[in-house]
Amino acid sequence: QASMLILGIESSCDETGVALVRADIPSHAANKPAIPKLLAHALHSQIDMHQLYGGVVPELASRDHIRRVIPLAEQALQQAQCQLKDIDVIGYTQGPGLAGALLVGAGVACALGAALNKPVLGVHHLEGHLLSPFLSEDPPEFPFVALLVSGGHTQLMRVDAVGRYTILGETIDDAAGEAFDKSAKLMGLPYPGGPILARLARDGDPQSFALPRPLLRGDNLDFSFAGLKTAVLTQVQKLDADLETRKNDLAASTQAAIVEVLVKKSMLALKHTGLNRLVVAGGVGANQHLRDQLNAQCARRGVRVHYPELYLCTDNGAMIALAAAMRLQAGLQEPNRDWSFDV
Ligand code: KG4
Ligand code: ZN
Repeated sequence: QASMLILGIESSCDETGVALVRADIPSHAANKPAIPKLLAHALHSQIDMHQLYGGVVPELASRDHIRRVIPLAEQALQQAQCQLKDIDVIGYTQGPGLAGALLVGAGVACALGAALNKPVLGVHHLEGHLLSPFLSEDPPEFPFVALLVSGGHTQLMRVDAVGRYTILGETIDDAAGEAFDKSAKLMGLPYPGGPILARLARDGDPQSFALPRPLLRGDNLDFSFAGLKTAVLTQVQKLDADLETRKNDLAASTQAAIVEVLVKKSMLALKHTGLNRLVVAGGVGANQHLRDQLNAQCARRGVRVHYPELYLCTDNGAMIALAAAMRLQAGLQEPNRDWSFDV
């Protein structure tokens, strides 16, 4: 078996992340490799820059990735006490994401690969999120049900192994993170509203406003959050000048509606699959109310639940380096040396 140093680059949206992991690559597919080790991770968030505009401005995002990516790579190498020449493979986020932003990470990865004569490997952003709990103190074991809740996606999946994913259900309109962010925006909160809304919700009454829980009836594992947004808008208009004094209550009610749907569907997915392990990933996985509710429901059912470390819930380079490493370990993907990319 070979030990490999893998550099990971994430630039799909408004975070530039670069990280290094070390992974044993088994010479024989039957050997079960150890979970790769995170050696270093450097991150720059563009939130302050985009906040002025109330959302991500793609052109500004691309330009900022260009400014940050090399210094972050230097920082990660220094942290890990490694040099460029020690890198064996370069993983980068291939998609989905903002085209211009992705282009920066892919371009830098492939240019570095060509310069160092090292192969590169494009990674699916969601696979990065999905596998990120493997870097936690309490890593999961296959198989499991995954609840993937980010700003752009909301999916329930059956995960049997690295690369063996079956989608059980997904949103038919907005993602859970989008529901948080759009509701927060309607309430006049700055971008990105999710974590800010969650903070206000701590001091509010979740039962003060009756908000819809779409698609909760029946046996369906799909989600829909567009109606919630409309209901929040109606409440904001009704409250008018009273919004200021009722913001905590509206935030708590909104969060409760989103979380209730996520938890109930997750429990239904566990029931459908007969599995007793749940893995949560993506930015909304940082939400404490969601974690509390899932912990309670899973404890009642004897289900083990795993989360990424809080600092790995939102976009980062560590999950991309990890996903590249785990795909190599599983023998799923041959890294390429023609350094061509397609984002
Ligand atoms: O996974 P992520 O960083 O980016 C995507 O791949 O989309 O997720 C970002 C999303 C945003 O919508 C953000 O508002 C939400 O995750 N988020 C939260 C919390 N922290 C981040 N939503 C609710 N509560 C939080 N604590
Ligand atoms: Zn993401």
